Amino acid sequence: MVDRRTFLAATAAAAAASADASADQLALNGGSPVRMQPLTTKNWGPQYYDDKERQQLEDVLEGRNPFRWSNPLTKSKVAIFENEYAARMQTKYALGVTSGTAALHAAMAALEVGPGDEVILPAWTWYSCYNTVVQAGALPVFAEIDQSFNIDPDDIEHRITPHTKVIMAVHLQGNPADMDRILAIARKHRLKVLEDCSQSVGASYNGRPLGSLGDIAIYSLQQSKTITAGEGGAVVTNDPYLYERAFRFHDVTMRKDFPSKLGFLPGLNYMNEFTGGVLLAQLRKLDTIIGAVRGNARRVYDGIRDLPGLHLRSLPDPKGELGTGIFLGFKTKEERQRYGEAMKAENVPVASPAGSVVLPVVPEIENKVTVTPGWPSFNSPRGKSIRYGRECCPRTIDILGRFAGVMMSPKFTESDTGDAIAAIRKVYPAIVPA
Ligand SMILES: Cc1ncc(COP(=O)(O)O)c(C=O)c1O
Repeated sequence: MVDRRTFLAATAAAAAASADASADQLALNGGSPVRMQPLTTKNWGPQYYDDKERQQLEDVLEGRNPFRWSNPLTKSKVAIFENEYAARMQTKYALGVTSGTAALHAAMAALEVGPGDEVILPAWTWYSCYNTVVQAGALPVFAEIDQSFNIDPDDIEHRITPHTKVIMAVHLQGNPADMDRILAIARKHRLKVLEDCSQSVGASYNGRPLGSLGDIAIYSLQQSKTITAGEGGAVVTNDPYLYERAFRFHDVTMRKDFPSKLGFLPGLNYMNEFTGGVLLAQLRKLDTIIGAVRGNARRVYDGIRDLPGLHLRSLPDPKGELGTGIFLGFKTKEERQRYGEAMKAENVPVASPAGSVVLPVVPEIENKVTVTPGWPSFNSPRGKSIRYGRECCPRTIDILGRFAGVMMSPKFTESDTGDAIAAIRKVYPAIVPA
């Protein structure tokens, strides 16, 4: 006969064992989730808005000169932002503009990309990269990405033709592209390199800020980027000729103090003091923001590194990446799908590299529709021979379908990163047998 004390102890032990089992069991299969509320990320820059941005905006309001040229260069928010941005990115020149798309547009004008030219860019990137090539009248030529999610240097050279003018190295999702190899190819073929650092503002490669390596670089400072004024962008370069062209293009060619040989360059109109002021305040917080997000990402990497068979996204320079997401690779799309469902049930959701946007994959653009129906480039024999659509880049589509990541935030607490580690450690081995 079991006495009451023995019975109660046995019951408590059984309950504890069952609680342990429930904690070990995937939430998807009825176990307890790692956390009770979903781990979510918010746009980074706006979480750091405070009196500094407010003061910049008040200065502009009180000055009653929100037009950049109504202020002397020593007072103009845009001019001060440009000086500090060039210093941070270790380039001679920086130009503030109203968006990353505007920055790309100005860079195309600077590089003299035009009808008949070809620009090689990664098959997975943001639409603006493709759109601005097309707006210039040139032809985009897609190269495959590799497991860094950036352009695969091995897939560039065979796409170079006598028409190729520029290689666009887009540093996607916080991860620097393999610039040593890209620059070597560009030098060999005498091509220009445009770095698009929009998704990696503040990241570096071999100790140098992204944007300082190619001939010219652009950044989006839109709301989902490292720092932001809602919309915003920048162009940087060390080349005075490219700078002058970009500068003139961003402001209807007005500025008079260039030692110009350019004559009239018909430009557009892409900047104002409100944007400049907020970007200036945000730029001064850039290193705080990236220090915090990198610290959180490192904690998660360190907490999962020993998992058997772990397949991380490849990182050409792990020290330089931002740590935007902790991306793991799977053998099949189905395996990744199961990982996604199981992580969601643990309340640590993951995103595919392409995020939640439905069609962010540029190869989805198959129709080649433009604002000008009689577009010469795509109708040229060369334009007709370039393959667009999904068949131009099967490897890119395969990679995008097999990776998923826990997105990081600079504002995560230790408990948040601990939950990310716990969920990955719980789910990954269950999905990917060692
Ligand atoms: C890689 C890349 N390039 C360019 C852009 C365009 O920037 P914006 O939205 O500021 O025009 C983006 C925006 O998401 C981007 O991700």
